[in-house]
Amino acid sequence: MNRELKLKQRPTPAAGVKRPPVTREVRVNDPDSYQTRRGKARKLLPIQDGCVFVVSDAHYFGEPSAAHRASIHLAKALRPWAVINNGDAIDGASISRWPVGSFTELAARPSVASEIKLAAARLADYEQLDFLKFLLWNLGNHDGRFETKLADLVPQYEGVPGFTLKEHFPMWAPAWRTDFVRPDGTSEVVVQHRFKGGMHAGQSNVLWSGTNYVTGHDHMLKAYSVTNVHGLHWGIHAGTMAPIDSPLFLHYTEDRPINWQEGFPILWFRGGRFIGPELVHCAPDGRVLFRGEVLPV
Ligand SMILES: [Fe+2]
Repeated sequence: MNRELKLKQRPTPAAGVKRPPVTREVRVNDPDSYQTRRGKARKLLPIQDGCVFVVSDAHYFGEPSAAHRASIHLAKALRPWAVINNGDAIDGASISRWPVGSFTELAARPSVASEIKLAAARLADYEQLDFLKFLLWNLGNHDGRFETKLADLVPQYEGVPGFTLKEHFPMWAPAWRTDFVRPDGTSEVVVQHRFKGGMHAGQSNVLWSGTNYVTGHDHMLKAYSVTNVHGLHWGIHAGTMAPIDSPLFLHYTEDRPINWQEGFPILWFRGGRFIGPELVHCAPDGRVLFRGEVLPV
């Protein structure tokens, strides 16, 4: 870790010392706290100076991943003003609409209850960072399995407490997408779980939207810069917060080599504009790579 990051890191409170109460810019339980469009499906964030972490495709399973540990470590140093959980925090293997492939796969699936419990524990690590003003959860297709299964099988239970995913994570504002908006209301950056597909989805997302775009879903971590008559934009693939050899991916990938990258992008803003991403890479050999350093996380 470089010296600048060390100097900026906040001291952790000594044992027995109480943290100050969490004060946030919004209360996610209050529907009026966030600016929204399309009902409440699109959350709008006015741009502030500083950085935002996008943690995508965590598929939480087992011990905290290197990417998760790195995100907490770097958050304490860089003090982002928002964290966007960009979908697929829940894998939902046991409630997939796809048929189970084998008895081996069946036995390896975590229960829904255990997935909810683990995701809550991991996301609590962000909730405790009191400098975060916004906590958002852009729904991923895997997260969606929770409610899809229930709505399909027991529609009569609509409205029964606990039958929607968001009720289990009340600190996180649910959305299909989160837009960082300019004063005129137009979108400087859009973050959502998925948009265009393919190897070069990041580039396509910029071309089809006309603005900066961040997506997960494909578990690749990279940034395309695109220049056109309107200027410079980035199309960013947000990677995965899970180890790419997670047991959850074994049967799905049939143990093929996969061009995925564990890690996450940090989005930087200055003067009301997006000024580009930094990428935190967690290599398969265990090294966490950032700004020319190997981070000790
Ligand atoms: Fe995913």
